[in-house]
Amino acid sequence: MAQTAATAVNQDAVYDDSVVRLFSIAAVLWGVVGMLVGVIIAAQLAWPELNFGLPWISFGRLRPLHTNAVIFAFGGCALMATSFHVVQRTGQTRLFAPALAKFVFWGWQLVIVCAAITLPLGYTFSKEYAELEWPIKLLIAVVWVAYAIVFFGTVGIRKVRHIYVANWFFGAFIIAVALLHIVNSAFIPVGFLKSYSVYAGAQDAMIQWWYGHNAVGFFLTAGFLGMMYYFIPKQAGRPVYSYRLSIVHFWALIFVYMWAGPHHLMYTALPDWVQSVGMVFSLVLLAPSWGGMINGIMTLSGAWHKLRDDPILKFLIVSLSFYGMSTFEGPMMSIKTVNSLSHYTDWTIGHVHSGALGWVGLISMGALYHLIPRMYGRKEMYSMKAIEAHFWIATIGIVLYIASMWIAGVMQGLMWRAVNPDGTLVYTFVESVKASHPYFIVRLLGGLLYLTGMLIMGWNTVMTMRVGKPVRNPIPAVVAHA
Ligand code: HEM
Ligand code: HEM
Repeated sequence: MAQTAATAVNQDAVYDDSVVRLFSIAAVLWGVVGMLVGVIIAAQLAWPELNFGLPWISFGRLRPLHTNAVIFAFGGCALMATSFHVVQRTGQTRLFAPALAKFVFWGWQLVIVCAAITLPLGYTFSKEYAELEWPIKLLIAVVWVAYAIVFFGTVGIRKVRHIYVANWFFGAFIIAVALLHIVNSAFIPVGFLKSYSVYAGAQDAMIQWWYGHNAVGFFLTAGFLGMMYYFIPKQAGRPVYSYRLSIVHFWALIFVYMWAGPHHLMYTALPDWVQSVGMVFSLVLLAPSWGGMINGIMTLSGAWHKLRDDPILKFLIVSLSFYGMSTFEGPMMSIKTVNSLSHYTDWTIGHVHSGALGWVGLISMGALYHLIPRMYGRKEMYSMKAIEAHFWIATIGIVLYIASMWIAGVMQGLMWRAVNPDGTLVYTFVESVKASHPYFIVRLLGGLLYLTGMLIMGWNTVMTMRVGKPVRNPIPAVVAHA
C-alpha cells in the first residue's frame, strides 16, 4: 500500500518547532565550521608547512576535529532537527517533554563546544570517531538518553495508529548509537581528561570497528534514510514508491550492518574466519542498500520533470545516486583482495567522501532547504537561485574530490606493491607521496567548492531568517504543514 508521509492533517495538533528551528540553524553553522576545518586539513596535506609548527592546529589534532564536527555536529544537528520535525508530523502530535528536547539541544551544543576545545589541545581517547575523553562521553550518553526519551515518547503519544517508516529508521539510529557509544566507550579513568579502554589487543580493535562501521551504518546511513523517506515524498508530492519495500529495506539493513565491521580489519590479528564473515556480510549489504536507493529514486516515477525545476529535489535525488555509488564501492572494497590494494590508501578517503559529501551532505542540505523556510513561516528559502547554484557548485566539488582520491589511491596501492625481480621495492614511500601531490591539490579545490556551496547556504539561511518570522507555538498543524 502506498502511503505519503502524514497524509491526513489533524487540525487540532500543534507542533513544537522551536527546537527543530534551533537544530536546523545549528546544522548549517556547524556544516560551515566542519567543512572549513576539512579544507584546512586538505591544504595541510598538500603543504605541510601550513601546520605552522603549532601543535594545536597540526593535522593530527585538526583531523579528528573535522570528523567530529562534520559527523556529529553538522550531521547530528541535521538528524535531530529532522527527526523531531518528522516524528511530530507523522504522529500528528507535539513533542513529548519539550523542556527535555531543549536540554537535548543545549546539551548537544555543549558536547560540540567541549570537542572543539579538547581536540585541538590534544586530549583524546585515541579511538577513531570516539575520540572525546570520558567526561564528554558521559555527557553524550546523558544527552542521547534524553533524545531517545523525547523521540520515543513522541512516538508513544502519536495520534495516528501507524508508525511511518521514517520513524523506524530514526528509531533504529537512536537505539543503535546509544548501544555502540556505551559499549565502545567503556573506559577506566586515570585523570580528569585521561582514560583507557577496558578492552585490549584484537578485542579492542574488533569492538572499535564494530562501533566504527555501525556508526557508518546507523549514524551516517539509517538516520539519513529516515530523512529520505520523509522529505523525498514531501518535496516530490508523491507517495513512497513501495511501502512494502521500505519495510523489507529496514529489517534487512539493520540486520546485515551489524556483522560487517571486520572489513575494516582485513589482514590483521583478527581471526581469519571473522574477516571472511565481515566480507560476506558486506557483499550482502549491497542488496538492501540498493533496495532503499531504488525505493527513494523511484518515488519520483511519473514526476521526473520536477527534477528539472526543483533544486531541492536535485539535492535529494542526487544524494541517493551517491548513496548507491558508495554502497556499491564499499562491498567491492571489502573483498579481501581488493582491500589489500585499497587499504591505507586515499581510495578509502575517496569512498568516505562519496558517502559523506554525496550522500550525507546532499540529503541533509535538501532536507534543511525544505525545513528551514517552514520554520520561519515561508513557503521557500529566500533565494531558490542560490539553492540551484549551491547544488551545482557542490556537485562539481564532490566529483573533483572523489575522482582525485580514487586515482591517487589506486596509484599509491600499485606503487607500494610494485617489486623488482630481485624482490626489492620499486618505489620508496616518499615517491608515492610526491606522486600524490597534484591530486591533493585537486581534492583541496573540490573541498573549496563544496565549502563555497555551504557558505551560500549559510547566507540563504540568514536571509530567510531575516525576511521570515519564527513560527511560534502553539500553532495549528495545518499552518505548519503548508
Ligand atoms: C569541504 C568539505 C570537506 C573536505 C575538504 C574534507 C577533507 C578531509 C580530509 C583532508 C580528510 C583527511 C584525509 C586523510 O587523512 O588522508 C578528511 C577525513 C574525513 N572526512 Fe572529510 N572533508 C570534507 C567534508 C566532510 C563531510 C561533510 C564529512 C561527513 C559527513 C566528512 C567525513 C570525513 C571522515 C569520516 C574522514 C575520515 C576518513 C577516514 O579515516 O578514512 N568530511 N576529510
Ligand atoms: C554497503 C555499504 C558499505 C560497505 C560494505 C562499506 C565498506 C567499506 C570498506 C571495505 C571500507 C574500507 C575499510 C578499510 O580498508 O580500512 C570502508 C571505509 C569507510 N566507509 Fe564504507 N562502506 C559502505 C558504505 C558507506 C557509506 C554509505 C559511508 C558514508 C556515509 C561509508 C563511510 C565509510 C567510512 C567513514 C570509512 C572509513 C573508516 C575509517 O577507516 O576511518 N561507507 N567502507
